[in-house]
Amino acid sequence: MCGIIGILKKENSELSDNLVQSLIDLEYRGYDSAGIAIVHNSSIKIEKCLGAPSQYMDLDRFKKNIGEEKILTTVGIGHNRWATHGKPSISNAHPHLDCGGDIAVVHNGTILNYESLKENLKKQGHNFKSDTDTEVVPHLIEENMKKGLSLEDAIVESASLLEGSFGLAIIHKDYPKTLFVLKNGSPISIGISNEMFVVASSTNAILRYTDRYLVLEDGEMAKLDAENMSHNIFKYKQPARSRLYKAEQVIEGILLEDLSKGDFDTFMQKEIFEQPATTRSTILGRTNTEEGLAVLGGLIDYKEKLRNIDNLYIVGCGTAYNAGMLGKELIENLTPINVSAQIASEFRYRKQNFSPDNSVFLSISQSGETADTLESLKEMKRKGFTTLGIVNVVGSAIAHESDAGIYTRAGTEIGVASTKAFTAQAITLYLFSLSLARVHGMSESSGISFIKELESIPDIMKKVLENHQEIERIAEVFRDIEKIQFLGRGIHMPIAYEGALKFKELTYMEAGSYPLGELKHGPMAVIDDMSLSVVILPKDDLFSIGSISIEQIKSKSGRLLVITDEEGAKSPVMRLADEIIVIPKLNNPVMYPLIEVLPLQLFAYYFAKQLGNNIDKPRNLAKSVTVQ
Ligand code: F6R
Repeated sequence: MCGIIGILKKENSELSDNLVQSLIDLEYRGYDSAGIAIVHNSSIKIEKCLGAPSQYMDLDRFKKNIGEEKILTTVGIGHNRWATHGKPSISNAHPHLDCGGDIAVVHNGTILNYESLKENLKKQGHNFKSDTDTEVVPHLIEENMKKGLSLEDAIVESASLLEGSFGLAIIHKDYPKTLFVLKNGSPISIGISNEMFVVASSTNAILRYTDRYLVLEDGEMAKLDAENMSHNIFKYKQPARSRLYKAEQVIEGILLEDLSKGDFDTFMQKEIFEQPATTRSTILGRTNTEEGLAVLGGLIDYKEKLRNIDNLYIVGCGTAYNAGMLGKELIENLTPINVSAQIASEFRYRKQNFSPDNSVFLSISQSGETADTLESLKEMKRKGFTTLGIVNVVGSAIAHESDAGIYTRAGTEIGVASTKAFTAQAITLYLFSLSLARVHGMSESSGISFIKELESIPDIMKKVLENHQEIERIAEVFRDIEKIQFLGRGIHMPIAYEGALKFKELTYMEAGSYPLGELKHGPMAVIDDMSLSVVILPKDDLFSIGSISIEQIKSKSGRLLVITDEEGAKSPVMRLADEIIVIPKLNNPVMYPLIEVLPLQLFAYYFAKQLGNNIDKPRNLAKSVTVQ
């Protein structure tokens, strides 16, 4: 949610090109507007655009305005915006300036006390040009410099007044060799090479230049100096500002090719088709087939705790919550453990009744940054719970804060609508469930067959994806529908929720999701010949009861798309379906969710494509939701 970039180089170069490329690498974090600022001939030069920088940033115009074919400089900052304070507009796009136009700031996060700061600054004569919370920062620095403070002191003094969350990158027209960075609650990493520093909200935007980086912790500020390529990191609230020495880290788990679409039309399409490979990678080295065990190295120190728990909280948002619901179904199916799967933004504010003595808290997150999930985790830590995480982004805040965890190894996910991260979360939960089940009564032979079935999933996923043209055709068949709902029972219910979430994110149409049996208690009212019910119904022990709902939908003239397996497709009730998507038959029905989600991802994808929507960047959304 918002992406910031800052580049400082030893030598002059055409930095604006680098800044824009980095903004494109970070575009998934926000894309309603963007901007860059550089120090050029002792003044700040700014270029902004409304919409995604890959489409709308006009560097030729920038060069023309400055009057140079090549704009050479050593320092610059940039920002992709996901609007929170003030609508998307050029004036609200970052970077923001002080009155004199000397200081430029980009910000990721929310400054909670900006209104009172703004009021005071206005009284002191400052002129504001945007509706953003961010704009107080350059004006505060300006005000403090007016009082005679140095730039560094003025930044420190200003930061001490800010409440809320921020990642900030700051430049000044008179300091072409200096870049300041601050972190409090929003992620910031500093890439380091012999010639440059690259500051970014995510290591995705650093990898293009270097794989060496430092992580800033909350309350820290860095002064980066290109004169001698040095950095000074300190706690900005501690008067002594003692220098902190940090070990350099190496970027892992991201490949540069993850940042490109390759031969695919969109990142989402690429990520859907990557799922057989990512699933394989999530499982790799984590099973002991001879003994039917899951081998989860990250949880090794918590083996005893997990052996003795009676309860488990699983918490996440959006797709991660849907994976959590699936985890609940699985774990309650395979073990005697009670599982409460909850939405993080609700969980934080609710009374929780499980005790830390016999319970564990598990959060799920692709980005590892989601504010509601992170705050739930912190709260449960304060309450004395053991906290585990299922996280995709290595070294992210949730990974860092959790006592232990399992990485999902889905690779970088750029498409805003989550696909491969969901299946990686699900697979991880299957492994986690197996590890719990084996210490709670599951036999060795059941463990062995569970693993065999799990390891066969990547090949089966491949088969499901081969059906993509048929799913594209079906999306066309239902093009004229006015309403849609996704329905599934038991272990298929979370997949119905995930199918609906994908569909609404991409098509901008409201999509209901219900447990199939709930249909008759209200949702049935919306059914008519312009409504589509997507029913997930493979042949398992709930098939017969689910078939009744199919009859009910048809009796109300509703249109019907059924996702079933080869066995289910032979059932006479299927004659009622307008269309059927057939998935392979599985020996262990508990595994169906892992493959039935793929046609739903494709269905949403093709439906949105025919509407001409922006698939990778659906309107109003962003990838990492770091605001509450
Ligand atoms: C849906 C989607 C969102 C995220 C949610 C949590 O396609 O991407 O619903 O799943 O914002 O994000 P993470 O997993 O990063 O915590």
